[in-house]
Amino acid sequence: MFEMMKKAEGDKILALMGLYRADTRPNKVDLGVGVYKDAHGKTPIMSALGKAERWQISHQASKSYVGLAGDVGFNDAITALALGQDYDRERVRSQQAPGGSGALRIVAELLAGSKEGATIWVSDPTWPNHIPIFSTAGLTIKHYPYFDADSGQVRFEAMIEALRAIPERDIVLLHGCCHNPTGANLSLDQWKELGSVLVERSLFPFIDIAYQGFGDGLDEDAAGLRHLAQIVPEMAIALSCSKNFAVYCDRVGAAILLGRNGDEADKAISQLALVARKSYSMPPNHGASVIRHILQTDDLHSEWQAELEAMRLRMLTLRTGLAESLRQHTNSDRFDFVANHRGMFSRLGLSLEQVEQLRLDHAIYMVGDSRINVAGLPDDGLEDLAAAIASVL
Ligand code: LMR
Repeated sequence: MFEMMKKAEGDKILALMGLYRADTRPNKVDLGVGVYKDAHGKTPIMSALGKAERWQISHQASKSYVGLAGDVGFNDAITALALGQDYDRERVRSQQAPGGSGALRIVAELLAGSKEGATIWVSDPTWPNHIPIFSTAGLTIKHYPYFDADSGQVRFEAMIEALRAIPERDIVLLHGCCHNPTGANLSLDQWKELGSVLVERSLFPFIDIAYQGFGDGLDEDAAGLRHLAQIVPEMAIALSCSKNFAVYCDRVGAAILLGRNGDEADKAISQLALVARKSYSMPPNHGASVIRHILQTDDLHSEWQAELEAMRLRMLTLRTGLAESLRQHTNSDRFDFVANHRGMFSRLGLSLEQVEQLRLDHAIYMVGDSRINVAGLPDDGLEDLAAAIASVL
């Protein structure tokens, strides 16, 4: 059986992780995979999370199955975090999923089964793994323009023009905040304009939100999707807790569906449960129950929120620091956009050769499209980093 198989090429972001780990140079800098790092280059367990885990271990009485929807208390709490406390509970249903990727996959499969040739439009560029996830689930993938590499800005006019022209009822994948890989985001006014086009053209919004709290704040980062939830008849959300609760390896996420009414929402979530049953059956419980405990416990909730805010502010400081250093070392404003972007990533606009040269000559690791993980920037090494980048231009 296996002799017929070709060796898989593998995911480029994960391959970069392997190369970085194998590099023995002491001054190496990891700006690759989207994992938050503190000033010591570590990805610690958040303090609120550690406390909630200890609570969970002393209170968990059984490891029996929980159910296809996962931890229902988690689902309610995480949905309120995304949609705000006063969302329309009559029309919204949620299901826990194995990470944001698991949520993307099950929702994609649900949507692929909804009509022959279902098509999803993704931003150009988008997170590379969106493509295999959606195509494996059976969706046809097309792209809408999104990013202007020269200015580092969103090509909003072009995006809207493209979306106005696509067939009604097609699916539009949107990054809820902190666009991955570019870091260029829509303003709330742009979300509003986009919302009108989605409604006018009967397009189905599918929001991927994996970095809530990493951009402008927990509520600010969800403002666009909350606006959509108020005006569109139907939508889906794939949510990840990997980054904002730093539970990467615990695989915690949720799929949230908004239906036209309670009856339709019930039907859709029952189909989603079936999709899960046919693949992994039930989601892992540990991380979700820990996050539920945080969100339901006032002091832990405040502690987590303060930790998240400190992470966000640290990334902002690193952004302005790098933009300033690059301005000095390149003697130009070419990289000023780094300071204005939000979230974990920015795309620098370097060629693949320049990215390779940075890795080989300077032990600086970034994704081949020149995406950098801002949280990986060395607090005390911005000057050296900027000098290295300037040297390959
Ligand atoms: C990233 O984009 O680096 C993260 O979302 C990690 C991943 O799985 O690709």
